[in-house]
Amino acid sequence: MTVAQDERKVNDDSERLVEELEDENDIAFVHKKRRRMLPIYACSIVSLSALLILIAVGIAYGVLSWAIPVNQEQLIWDWDNINVKDRYFPEDFLWGTATSAHQVEGYNDNNQWHAFEQGLLWKPESGLPIGDGTVSGKACDHWNLYKKDIQLMKKDLGTNTYRFSIEWSKIEYRKGQYNMSVVQHYHDVIDELLANNISPMVTIHHFTDPLWFVDLGAWEKSENVEHFVSFAKFAFNEYSSKVKLWCTINEPNVYSLAGYTGGGFPPRKNDIPLAMEVMKNFGDGHVAAYRALKQLPNGAESKIGIVHQLGNHDAYNKDSLMDRVITKFANDLSPGIFLSFFSTGIMKFHIPFVVNFNHENKDAINSNDFIGLNYYTRQVEQFTFDSPTLANQYRDRSRNYTDMDWEIYPEGIYRMIKLIDHYNPNIPIIITENGIADAKDRFVKMFYERYLYAVSRAIKEGYNVKGFVAWSLLDNFEWSGGFEPRFGLYHVNYETQERTLKEGSKAFIQAISEWKATHLKA
Ligand code: BGC
Repeated sequence: MTVAQDERKVNDDSERLVEELEDENDIAFVHKKRRRMLPIYACSIVSLSALLILIAVGIAYGVLSWAIPVNQEQLIWDWDNINVKDRYFPEDFLWGTATSAHQVEGYNDNNQWHAFEQGLLWKPESGLPIGDGTVSGKACDHWNLYKKDIQLMKKDLGTNTYRFSIEWSKIEYRKGQYNMSVVQHYHDVIDELLANNISPMVTIHHFTDPLWFVDLGAWEKSENVEHFVSFAKFAFNEYSSKVKLWCTINEPNVYSLAGYTGGGFPPRKNDIPLAMEVMKNFGDGHVAAYRALKQLPNGAESKIGIVHQLGNHDAYNKDSLMDRVITKFANDLSPGIFLSFFSTGIMKFHIPFVVNFNHENKDAINSNDFIGLNYYTRQVEQFTFDSPTLANQYRDRSRNYTDMDWEIYPEGIYRMIKLIDHYNPNIPIIITENGIADAKDRFVKMFYERYLYAVSRAIKEGYNVKGFVAWSLLDNFEWSGGFEPRFGLYHVNYETQERTLKEGSKAFIQAISEWKATHLKA
């Protein structure tokens, strides 16, 4: 090899080496670059997946939100442009007022509410059994003053119906033993009503149970239903030749939920399965009583129904899945549970991992000649982790609220009439309670005008509403609220027992007089 050849080879080798080194550098660089890029790629992949997951969750959320039925769409009317006097009530319409024995009569000392008020049973760990510390005591002394009160109905109000309850614990004071002077007292009340052309509408059970029935386990035990049915038969045999309108049970949903899910009613238990059991027994109790009374003399021509307090539940944000979910559960429980029971014979309530309740009683189908609707308000449900029920009842303070902090929402009674009809097509509906606690009489006039308009609107649309009964004739003992809430068309001075018509109540009287004038003219 020549020197020149040698040099060329050395040059070639070194060029190759340089090239190889450059290649290696490149590779190292690429590796380095790749190593640096890896987290970026990883991040992008994670972000992309996260984005895709978010989109998928968003779509699922949207679909689910849309698929969770909220039962009925919300409705807000433009009251400024509504003529509330544009109303119509049919000729045979029932106009009435309502009370219940324990709330107005006085002298009840043999039922669970009396024991509760005195702190003798289910004493709360803290606080007072009754919010304002009162006890029902002599209440409005309606036991003695019923004749005067009937004159208020006849002369001032012009009503043609009076819904009142007979006190089981006074009549059947011990199991199977009846106090005949008490039985006579209710005959006297009924006769006085009839003498004044007012139809009695009797409620057999309005929240109170005799103490002997409580000792047996009250509505917690299905075997006790027969005691209620036997009392219902006793009362029907006594009074049905004169009384044509019968309410079996008042608001079993309220009794069960307020008494068994941590509310302020005795027995102040907090036990959801037991609450369901109590509801079931009330449901079966109504069905058994209805079937039994229909078989008795006067049964066929009497109108017998159950009374429910039904309120609408609306989602605070209808695009929020969680607001819709809790709203759905609330509506399934009430109004759903009883309305579907009477249309399908199945009482059911499910919340995954919490309640799985199913009960069937096919006799429940068509076991009402009418449904009594007690309507007070709606609830706007907002999901929250701050409450054990995961729900907060939202209040829009730009709207009007009663002394009970219940929203004045007349559109709701119209919606509820439609909902009852949806479950039980064309069933006669009687508004068995509607009224306002408003001690200062700020909203009473507006309340009755708007609610009556809403009921009339349903009637004009063809819904089968047969009557409107105001709660209440008198201020009275509002259960765990004591005497503080004032629901009466009449203010009651509990010292003197003087009754004074509230100015706003004249709106109710006005509607009745217009109705009379219309049908007298025709
Ligand atoms: C009941 C009445 C009660 C009214 C107002 C209904 O739940 O039937 O007894 O006074 O509502 O709360």
